[in-house]
Amino acid sequence: PTPVVLDVDTGVDDACALLLAALHPALDLRAVSCVGGNAPVDDVVRNTLLVLQTAGRADVPVARGAERPLLEAPHDARHVHGDDGMADLGWGPAAATVDPRHAVEMLRDICREAAEADRPVTLVPLAPLTNIALLLRTYPAAAQGISEIIFMGGAAHVGNATASAEFNVFHDPEAAAITLDAAADLGIPVTMYGLDVFYEPVITPEAAAELVAVGGRGPAELGGRLMDFQRERLGGDATIGDAGAVCAVIDRAALRTETLPLRVELAGSWSRGRTIVDRRGWSGAIERDPHGEAPVRVEVALDVDGERYARLWRDTLLGRTGEP
Ligand code: BDR
Ligand code: CA
Repeated sequence: PTPVVLDVDTGVDDACALLLAALHPALDLRAVSCVGGNAPVDDVVRNTLLVLQTAGRADVPVARGAERPLLEAPHDARHVHGDDGMADLGWGPAAATVDPRHAVEMLRDICREAAEADRPVTLVPLAPLTNIALLLRTYPAAAQGISEIIFMGGAAHVGNATASAEFNVFHDPEAAAITLDAAADLGIPVTMYGLDVFYEPVITPEAAAELVAVGGRGPAELGGRLMDFQRERLGGDATIGDAGAVCAVIDRAALRTETLPLRVELAGSWSRGRTIVDRRGWSGAIERDPHGEAPVRVEVALDVDGERYARLWRDTLLGRTGEP
């Protein structure tokens, strides 16, 4: 199995991603780092521990990371994720305890061990990139233990937090810019799983009902309840959201990407936090722009077989991954 580490702000969609990463046999979930984003970081830690407990994976180390973005005050997302950041499920405290290390220190240790064992991890950030920026700037040698970064964030087209910007990048634009810059310097390949594909893997009300009906307070029931909450809270179709970035680790062939120049807008009155993807297609164009440093080249996800990813997620929660 592919060793993976998730960085999360659980969060309804991150819960969906955690369930998949914890349960799919093609993945070896080594650790989870938490950051403030969709919810305050202490809620994120509790939610993450409880999701892993529900998946029967309380053995996975979970560490608390950055409380706030590098520069700005945090932005509240309770209107999307509920007051507890977790669909208002009313969960109590978690039975498992948080790792004593700061998330950045835990990530450093995991990366060092991965490098020593010659089993580098796929790093999957699903949240503001604060922890990852701090990791790569503070401990650049961690790059030796990272085979690639597949992050949920950004968009080639429109945003969600604002008309221009996707939430994770909007929440901490400096961290996103630092992460991309550091990854390019350190030779870590990066894929952006952004809003251009985020909404495609849809869970129908019937499919959610099938999951809920499994009951037993297990992963299937939790996944179904999260889909119902999302549909009722936001309207429209429920999507597995951030879990799609985990699907991309398992089934890359269902994702169409292009290698494109990418910048993060750090100024802008209306566009701060936008990921600017240059699709002009004439070689070197953006390098000639008089805006300072060259952009980073990233694999940008532009299209996905949403039905395939939705099925992968559902089947995993139903324990059907082993079937032919
Ligand atoms: C992001 O916002 C949150 O709802 C999701 O967890 C995801 O990380 C999408 O913009
Ligand atoms: Ca998230």
